[in-house]
Amino acid sequence: MTEISAALRTATGDLSSAGVPSPRADAEILLAHVLQTSRGDMVRMAVLGKPLSDEQDGTYTELIRRRVAREPLQHLTGTAPFADLELLVGPGVFVPRPETETLVAMAAADLAGISKPIVVDLCTGSGAIPLALRQQVPSARVIGVELSPEAHAWAKRNATHTGLDVDMRLGDAGHAADELIGLVDLVTCNPPYVPTDAIPIDPEVAQHDPSMALYGGSADGLAIPLAMAARAAELLKPGGVLLMEHADVQRQSLLAALSKTEKWADLSDHDDPTGRPRVARAVRA
Ligand SMILES: C[S@@+](CC[C@H](N)C(=O)[O-])C[C@H]1O[C@@H](n2cnc3c(N)ncnc32)[C@H](O)[C@@H]1O
Repeated sequence: MTEISAALRTATGDLSSAGVPSPRADAEILLAHVLQTSRGDMVRMAVLGKPLSDEQDGTYTELIRRRVAREPLQHLTGTAPFADLELLVGPGVFVPRPETETLVAMAAADLAGISKPIVVDLCTGSGAIPLALRQQVPSARVIGVELSPEAHAWAKRNATHTGLDVDMRLGDAGHAADELIGLVDLVTCNPPYVPTDAIPIDPEVAQHDPSMALYGGSADGLAIPLAMAARAAELLKPGGVLLMEHADVQRQSLLAALSKTEKWADLSDHDDPTGRPRVARAVRA
């Protein structure tokens, strides 16, 4: 029998040696997952000197081995927190990131005061953005569009799992929702935007996020984002808003490219809570 506190100490050491960025937090989250309890409860059990059963110990050892091999934490627990939701994730779908919550907060602010707004999320992945928006703005009609069949399946699963009414569509977002041209109040988009030859450093990203979710299709990473902005310009009504996430180095280049199209009346850019440039906002002229 292994005591919880001893298992945590060993796991934290192993994760730290493997270069996992937050070894103690990951060790705790995975142990709480094995014990099917909250982190707080797990810590209380550790303080009381509770042991793991042999089965729990075996399951935990295997999860730590996989995390040491740099499988994403969220693939091991099967869930990712996003805004006020707990989403289902796994191989084949981009794990939603906390920085994207900035875009959701801006979107909810833009929708305030619009009665029954229409929202289209291009490149929806797990459905994180449209589901969070539908939760925060229940009067909105919300559509999410995703090209990858695997990711689309996760988005559908998440709509069922959360019980939120979002129309998850499979297809190229560059040609999405023809019936809504000129009628949409808000387009949100966190597109693939990594420059083609900039391989992400973290193994969790480089080896486990689908490449279709990462690479923006050109040396500057902006080919797909600009194709999505062009579709947004077609979908939005005059005065409608586009919110698009981008890499911190793309603030100037994305705004300059959007400005050149002369489709946008008002362009601005916003930092995420860590102070990095993150979300472009453009109002349809
Ligand atoms: C960076 S991920 C973002 C996923 C999700 N919006 C989020 O914030 O977690 C980009 C997503 O765009 C999808 N994608 C790439 N090209 C697309 C296209 N032409 N049409 C629709 N989706 C596309 C990818 O499969 C991936 O799921």
